[in-house]
Amino acid sequence: TKNNLCDFILFGGHGDLAFRKLMPALYHLCKDKYISSESRIITVSRKEISIDEHIKLIEDKLNEFLSEEKIDEEFFKIFKKQLLMVTIDFADEKSYEKLQTILNEHSDRERINYLSTSPDFFGTICKSLNHWNLISQQTRVVLEKPLGRDLKSSQEINKEVLKYFEEDQIYRIDHYLGKDTVQNIMALRFSNRLFVPLWNSNHIDHVQITVAESVGVENRWGYYNEYGALRDMIQNHLMQLLCLIAMEPPCSLEANSVRDEKVKVLRSFRNINDEDIKTKTVRAQYKAGSSDGKTVPGYLDGKEEGSNTETFAAIRVDIDNWRWNGVPFYIRSGKRLQRRNSEIVIQFKTIPHSIFGEDETSINANRLVITLQPKESIELKLMNKIPGLSDSMKLQQVDLELNSPHNSDRKPDAYERLILDVVRSNPTLFMRLDEVETAWKWADKIIEGWEKNLSPMKTYTAGSDGPSAAIQLIAKDGRSWNDE
Ligand code: BG6
Repeated sequence: TKNNLCDFILFGGHGDLAFRKLMPALYHLCKDKYISSESRIITVSRKEISIDEHIKLIEDKLNEFLSEEKIDEEFFKIFKKQLLMVTIDFADEKSYEKLQTILNEHSDRERINYLSTSPDFFGTICKSLNHWNLISQQTRVVLEKPLGRDLKSSQEINKEVLKYFEEDQIYRIDHYLGKDTVQNIMALRFSNRLFVPLWNSNHIDHVQITVAESVGVENRWGYYNEYGALRDMIQNHLMQLLCLIAMEPPCSLEANSVRDEKVKVLRSFRNINDEDIKTKTVRAQYKAGSSDGKTVPGYLDGKEEGSNTETFAAIRVDIDNWRWNGVPFYIRSGKRLQRRNSEIVIQFKTIPHSIFGEDETSINANRLVITLQPKESIELKLMNKIPGLSDSMKLQQVDLELNSPHNSDRKPDAYERLILDVVRSNPTLFMRLDEVETAWKWADKIIEGWEKNLSPMKTYTAGSDGPSAAIQLIAKDGRSWNDE
């Protein structure tokens, strides 16, 4: 729309994600004029608080969570006029009438409903919006994770929402897709001729994807214990990263072209049988240890009941298609690991023959390392001559580093990119229904095998590199993780 004018309705607007990520993103988008200053941000919450209290709360939370030090007082005077709030009991259809009154003050405006609530409410909220006639063809709905905890529950959630919204009005968020380096994977692959002939099983030995966190489950034990690493991280974030690395070139950047290619990757995953669960999957829980110099309790410490929820998972994925035949993808993710580190490693094969001395293994094979966190970088590890006059030529591995100069001081958060894309009606970086479902089908097989205890729960010390079984998973194929 002109000037990106819209009404942005934030369900669950007093929740943790809204305070930490969504409000700061909206603040920046409005401040930088990506969203028109006439747009309204309507927080919908169960909290009974006055508008003045609401504005004060948002101000405090922005001061707490903005990436810069302080809120811009001058700008906040304008921004706070955009903030509205309505108290609704999500399950009570009648209470939505108040929302209708507010929205109908600008009945022709485009509306974005951002559902940052428990998915249990997604269906009810959409039904109530429909009941009060608040859905037009221009209305969008954004769904936050978790989109279910298996294929069946995910299908149920999506079916409810699809009763009231068309697929192209639905934006399923995976915030990893909003990270700049993640989008850069496409730029790297599809704008550099260099990689075109190399990006396949002829030249790539294997791929590693790691999303390691040093934090524990913080104050989300209740949520996390229902999900675990496979459902919380791997089924969504790591799958998306894997798809971007493995997909065929889409015919354009248009949403469905990209999503068609991603879903083809997911469909090419080799079926997982009981034997694979035993040999290709690892799950583990952290025990007490130390993190950033502090002693931290184990996942189960202080809990009354035990739990079978994994805080770490590592899996070998095989893709049965022409490009990736024989190239394993090793993926892992966990909490309370030694350091926060997310990276994708493309390990190339060794050279066919070495002319630099006897031992071919002294020549490290090329490695492309795409780091998402904590810093963002892309490095290509190459062999290079050690300068000097020694009589036999000596080589060393050096990094060719891609330097992306940024023209502003502040790096936009993933949520800014994604919210702006919803405002602009661009769903390329959102997950289509078939992607979500295909990823769940695969995850379900692993969940089933784990429920049968085919791969017993391992443990690891908080602050370590994870369970030794994860090192074994890759070592038994004669490979190793890219850990320093
Ligand atoms: C969320 C998970 O989706 O991603 C969290 O629910 C996790 O458990 C978070 O901590 C990690 O996101 P980021 O952007 O900090 O890597």
